[in-house]
Amino acid sequence: MNRTQLITTADLTREEVDFFIKEADELRGKSTNNLEGVVMASLFFEPSTRTRMSFESAAHRLGGRVITVANASSTSMKKGETLDDSIRVIEKYADILVMRHPKEGSAADAIKITKKPFLNAGDGANQHPTQALLDMYTIQKEMGSIDGNTIAFVGDLKFGRTVHSLLHLLKHYKVKIIFISPEQLKIPNHYLDLLKESSVEYLETSELKKHMPDIDVLYMTRIQQERFEDLDQYYMLKGSYVLNSELVRSGKESMRVLHPLPRIDEMTTDVDSLPQAAYFREAENGVYMRMALLKNLWKNFK
Ligand code: NCD
Repeated sequence: MNRTQLITTADLTREEVDFFIKEADELRGKSTNNLEGVVMASLFFEPSTRTRMSFESAAHRLGGRVITVANASSTSMKKGETLDDSIRVIEKYADILVMRHPKEGSAADAIKITKKPFLNAGDGANQHPTQALLDMYTIQKEMGSIDGNTIAFVGDLKFGRTVHSLLHLLKHYKVKIIFISPEQLKIPNHYLDLLKESSVEYLETSELKKHMPDIDVLYMTRIQQERFEDLDQYYMLKGSYVLNSELVRSGKESMRVLHPLPRIDEMTTDVDSLPQAAYFREAENGVYMRMALLKNLWKNFK
């Protein structure tokens, strides 16, 4: 493992995924000095709470320091500076760069400019690799293994980058996948091709209730308002699925509900107190997974 940058889950191997899961679990609850004297820049050109703060928490817990852009409109990009120039400058200020940007492919563009450790924290509807890894860690921790599970994705499968990224990792495991979405928000075909090539069994449907008893991991998503060109369509689709405690109870007791958060109205708060609700534990796992990534990408670089 000599990776120093993480742009996509498409090129991660099963060995790497298992390695990072193990590392994250070892770092759980710890403070270390792996990033002593190291400055991480977090560049968020698109809104974020969890991803930015958990990256920053991870850097601090590894003994590093953080500089941050939390509001794109406060940067020189507002004055017309290109992303390339911003990266050229910020890589002089920081040792590790973490970036979220609304444009698909922006992370791949950024690493044409910088050789420093770089982590994609979300590029448009394309990829969100650190979320996918923390989701894998959560599945492993909650279910005891990743192999053998039936995993259902519910909601906005067209624009949901966390779903897209996770599929690239799940393709390495023996899982079954159920895609549950309205017709307009179906998973793009190339992800189905990917699963076919990897011999992962899947089915597509618009019905959630009917499939509840088969599901081991229920991965809920938000309808991604900011990706819609036609807002009327967003308002039409936004209430498509609502997970409440009654619906959760109709599933297996051992089922676990994941959600990358934020939730809007697709999941009611009465689910939160059920043992099935794993999404706040999932958010915590994000800190340990990001610690594992920062520690190792930095180790491989220095
Ligand atoms: C996700 C994202 O940004 O893609 N959130 C996150 O990283 N925790 C999901 C979302 O915004 O719906």
